[in-house]
Amino acid sequence: MTDSKILYGGDYNPEQWPRPVWEEDYAAFDKASIDTLTLNVFSWATLQPDEDTYDFAQLDAIVARAVEGGRGVVLATSTGALPPWLAHRHPEVERTDFQGRRHVFGQRHNACPSSPVYRRLSAELAGCLAERYAGTPGLVAWHVGNEYGGFDGGCWCDLCAAGFRDWLRVRYGTLERLNEAWNATFWSHTFSDWAQIVPPNMLSEHWRGPDHTAFQGITLDYRRFMSDAMLANFRDEKARIREHDATTPVTTNFMGMFRPIDYHRWAGDLDFASWDNYPPGRREHVRMALAHDVMRGLKDGDPFWVMEQTPTITASRDVNPVKRPGVLRLWSWQAVAHGADAVLYFQMRQSRGACERYHGAVLDHAGRTDRRAFREVAALGSELAGLGDAVVAARTPARVALLFDWDSWWAAEMTDGFNRHAKYVDTVLSYYRALWQAGAQVDVVPTTADLTRYDVVLAPMLHVLKGDVAERLAAVTARGGSVLASYWSGRADENANAHLMDAPGPLAPLFGVRVEETDSAEPGVTNPVTLTDGSGEVVSAAQLVFEVLVPEGADVAGTYGAEFYAGTPAVTRHRPTGPEGGEAWYVGTGLDDAGAAWVVRRLLDRHGLVGPYADVPDVELAVRAKDGVRFAFVLSHATEPVEVAAHASGVDLLTGRAVRAGETLRLAPTDVVLLREDAAGGEA
Ligand code: GAL
Repeated sequence: MTDSKILYGGDYNPEQWPRPVWEEDYAAFDKASIDTLTLNVFSWATLQPDEDTYDFAQLDAIVARAVEGGRGVVLATSTGALPPWLAHRHPEVERTDFQGRRHVFGQRHNACPSSPVYRRLSAELAGCLAERYAGTPGLVAWHVGNEYGGFDGGCWCDLCAAGFRDWLRVRYGTLERLNEAWNATFWSHTFSDWAQIVPPNMLSEHWRGPDHTAFQGITLDYRRFMSDAMLANFRDEKARIREHDATTPVTTNFMGMFRPIDYHRWAGDLDFASWDNYPPGRREHVRMALAHDVMRGLKDGDPFWVMEQTPTITASRDVNPVKRPGVLRLWSWQAVAHGADAVLYFQMRQSRGACERYHGAVLDHAGRTDRRAFREVAALGSELAGLGDAVVAARTPARVALLFDWDSWWAAEMTDGFNRHAKYVDTVLSYYRALWQAGAQVDVVPTTADLTRYDVVLAPMLHVLKGDVAERLAAVTARGGSVLASYWSGRADENANAHLMDAPGPLAPLFGVRVEETDSAEPGVTNPVTLTDGSGEVVSAAQLVFEVLVPEGADVAGTYGAEFYAGTPAVTRHRPTGPEGGEAWYVGTGLDDAGAAWVVRRLLDRHGLVGPYADVPDVELAVRAKDGVRFAFVLSHATEPVEVAAHASGVDLLTGRAVRAGETLRLAPTDVVLLREDAAGGEA
């Protein structure tokens, strides 16, 4: 990786157009300060026209042109889409879907991860590419596969069934232990031979889809297995690359909060994390911030890359609006603000044909550089070039951690009973939104992360409680910190079996509370929860889940206003080590934004972590720091101009303007200030 600037560029597929057009492309890349090209993402059929033949002529030319143009190269291995001959000759390389249908050739992300033929040929291809292109001047990274799990999240074929059984043998050793873990006496599921185990899909344990399973334990294990099976594919290729190239970093493009793959299980195998940022809507700045933080949390706070984003429109949605003026810049700086050291696009020039031919690109079909989108891309390129290495490798100084857990996501959303409208990411997002608006710097981390560096730790919907998380959360409060858990937390063990005790299970002593019963309601049905602590009061329109709480040591911080449990606790605060010690907040219901903010501000306030722009809606503060210097990104996602008082003195690195603490900053919608704070600057 280069440390000279934030990398800028993206996917480039010049194999689709004649050679003279390449020259136009490079002239435009110069205009837009494009320094990095991701090549060869989907070229398997060209690189290997049959099982015994490789042909690198086209890629040689593409790479040579990039090198000649002085660009950094991210070289992909092309294994994200099968070539037709491979599917034709070895039909078992095609994946079998959740309905149990073996697919025939078509699409991409189409391989069965357990297929020995796929594993052999994909690894061989990666090895050949590495042998040929290791040492290429400007080779910045290897990009293995593409968006693993991107089609339906996996495969359910006989090969995967066999792989699942092997995986289970390793995990459980004996059928007795497996039957115990799966609670197999329920509905007569006691297995007496490994061969009786089949993948959970629409032909077996599921009825209405992936989230409706008769056996949560079986489905949970299958998701873990599938995540590991695809990881094995990544490892196959990386190992071959390493035979020829010992140092160039290897990554694959993740998809942010993508449910099918537990990225925490993968993180250790990546040299750096990267992801593709395609927000589902137009006002997604908080969700994107969370996704960036999830990605940064994969490698313990190391910078990550945005491997893809669209400069203009996507093509895959029913409705594909353009990014409004300034939004591309704003969202790109937001990524950098949260730890991205590369901002790359899909794609450099619009595809000529097939389903992505109208997908946005740096260059359109005509190659125009005199249109708004290109001008914005070029302006951003020049800004990034001007910034140089200032924030490269800088890290986020976070005192707040938010636990993100794929097991809890999987288990909670495949749970029968309670309320299927209550979603894991929505719940996490509601707490993250409150932290974000308060301007807290947040690390989003796995449950295994070291929590000793945080003052505040939030565990929303931590449904699966495994390992020593309860003890480590208790240790946070024991040293005066603050923790929060929300409804459904602590209920299940790592096999998705209920803990044989009151909810929130092993978390109960820390939170000083037990759940008496759990009520649910349709979306839109609310119960007014009055939150009060003497210093302020708010009424929150709580919805979806209503746990009736019985304090066992905790103080009541919020009570329900309706239903037969009106007047009983909905939110509690416990001080397990006495009045001066840390606090453990338990939220038994789906608070609205105002309610979540009320609770979260109290946690942050105790530790002086409420930021300076907390009361200015949609103004974001994100901080990176290195060598003792703080870089404060102030980003306006507001739709109207706003004015704020600068929180610190310093220099806005995007304009060169000196800023004095307290002076008025006028922020138009989409404005960005990147303040390199003076050493004596105020605290954010
Ligand atoms: C990504 C993918 C790219 C391209 C892009 C279009 O998911 O990795 O190859 O398809 O989406 O938005």
